[in-house]
Amino acid sequence: MKTNELKVNPDCFEPDILQPAATALKTGSLVAFPTETVYGLGAIYRDEAALRRIFETKGRPNDNPLILHIWNTHQLEELVREVHPKFQKLITAFWPGPLTMVFPKKPEVSQLVTAGLSTVAVRMPSHPVARELLRLTDIPVAAPSANLSGKPSPTRGEHVMHDFAGVIPWIIDAGPCSAGIESTVVMLDGVTPIILRPGSVTREMLEAELQESVAVSDGATDRPSAPGMKYRHYAPKAPVILVEGAKDEIVRKINAIIHEQGRERKTVVIGSSENLSSFETELVLDLGSQDQLELAAMRLYDLLRTCDELGADQIIIEGVENQGIGAALTNRLHKASGGNIIDVS
Ligand code: TXA
Ligand code: MG
Repeated sequence: MKTNELKVNPDCFEPDILQPAATALKTGSLVAFPTETVYGLGAIYRDEAALRRIFETKGRPNDNPLILHIWNTHQLEELVREVHPKFQKLITAFWPGPLTMVFPKKPEVSQLVTAGLSTVAVRMPSHPVARELLRLTDIPVAAPSANLSGKPSPTRGEHVMHDFAGVIPWIIDAGPCSAGIESTVVMLDGVTPIILRPGSVTREMLEAELQESVAVSDGATDRPSAPGMKYRHYAPKAPVILVEGAKDEIVRKINAIIHEQGRERKTVVIGSSENLSSFETELVLDLGSQDQLELAAMRLYDLLRTCDELGADQIIIEGVENQGIGAALTNRLHKASGGNIIDVS
């Protein structure tokens, strides 16, 4: 298949440039497009054949439901039975932006979207290209991250090209995504808000807005939760070891592992800017400063893909502080490591 690659400058573009991609979406094609979190692989939510193609293209298990993307709150009316006042508050505070909410669904929303659940996840992205594409399409768009299932999510157009060039008809490339990790997913258990997947709208931000405490579910084990969280995820080819705990101990432990392994294995370290020069190997990638974890979130998936390109046999990652945006990063690092975690606290 020929893939149309459309390069768009997100800061300055003519809306018309997106019209052919919007038309393709409307007529049942898959279109990969940028959002502020990661790139999405979109299909209109009413087209069952197109929805099936999303699952086939990604190699995604079909018990993992999709998020619907809208540009206007009016579009919620065709999708959800009710908007709880707490969600109304969150919509006002965080949409458009990287927050997904799980609502009771209307019967019109296909079981393919929701994997048989009675709820549907919806978000309104803030990326200008995503917004314009959704406006031109004017039908809610189902979009999981535009990567092969299990791989790190795509945060650059090149990542989508790598996984899907020649496989899908449209890829819109607007450069790097600013948040770099997927949206926060939140549901209400009765009236209690629960984070199913942490993201850059943090627990602290939700609590400040709702004036109550917000729980974080262990998505790996719970049901009803974000069913997608139970799979090994965000994983590069090489095995990942995550080293967490006391700051000085982390560096010592990582160096000990490098020395134990000797030179036979190509070990790549992903660490904080502060510690880069302390790792006793040349193969070090900079995750960014410990004080700027937003930057680390933006870089993480790109660095994991870089490890594949470097032909790493093994990746060792320095853990980050588990609060604020660091909680979302820690969640992704845990998934990428498949539970291969050393705690040196
Ligand atoms: O930032 C994002 O959310 C990106 C961009 C493209 O918008 N999309 C994304 O989609 O990350 P995906 O399919 O990779 O992840 C969707 C997550 C999964 O963990 C899934 O289980 C959860 O949302 N989810 C979807 N519908 C749900 C529902 N009805 N109840 C609970 N969890 C749901
Ligand atoms: Mg995904």
